[in-house]
Amino acid sequence: MFSPALWQLTYCSTSASRLHDLRKDVDDILREARIFNRQHRIQGVLFYGNHFFLQCLQGNRADLEMLYDKLQKDHRHIQLKLLESRAVETPLFDQWHMKYVVLEPKIQELLSRWQMQLFMPYNLSETQLAELLSLFSVVRDAVDTSRAPPPKTGRILKALQWVSRQLNQP
Ligand SMILES: Cc1cc2nc3c(=O)[nH]c(=O)nc-3n(C[C@H](O)[C@H](O)[C@H](O)COP(=O)(O)O)c2cc1C
Repeated sequence: MFSPALWQLTYCSTSASRLHDLRKDVDDILREARIFNRQHRIQGVLFYGNHFFLQCLQGNRADLEMLYDKLQKDHRHIQLKLLESRAVETPLFDQWHMKYVVLEPKIQELLSRWQMQLFMPYNLSETQLAELLSLFSVVRDAVDTSRAPPPKTGRILKALQWVSRQLNQP
């Protein structure tokens, strides 16, 4: 059913980080975002590609506008452009307080279809934006911890078990 309480705000910006600091800056942003967004029931996605960000936020309108004010003052990115701010019916990222997506093959494919050599978010059409967001909602998170390799202690334990089996063989 249509829920007028769900608002969607999407903007793009240019990263102000040197490439060398980018990983740490993105880690910090995601950590801050996931805490604040969880507390305010904000969900969404942050995409990074070719030194640009594209972020889509869904939640309560007042909370999103308050967050956008903070985002505009953040020196880690510049040249923010609001791409859309509107009521929506469908939660796109309801599993995520901030999903993180990068330029992966499926997204590259879509850009090639649009004959876009490099990701340039500032002039996306409404249709392109909708298509991109819908793709962001299904591709995997770039730092999904559930896909991380097992912790080192687990691997060491397995190695010890293997050695022990070899020693105990007749
Ligand atoms: C590209 C980008 C995306 C961000 N996304 C969020 C977000 O979704 N939620 C959030 O709380 N902060 C996010 N931040 C961080 C905020 O800009 C800000 O640093 C944070 O809300 C703390 O602000 P405060 O110290 O004024 O409370 C983002 C920053 C950048 C550069």
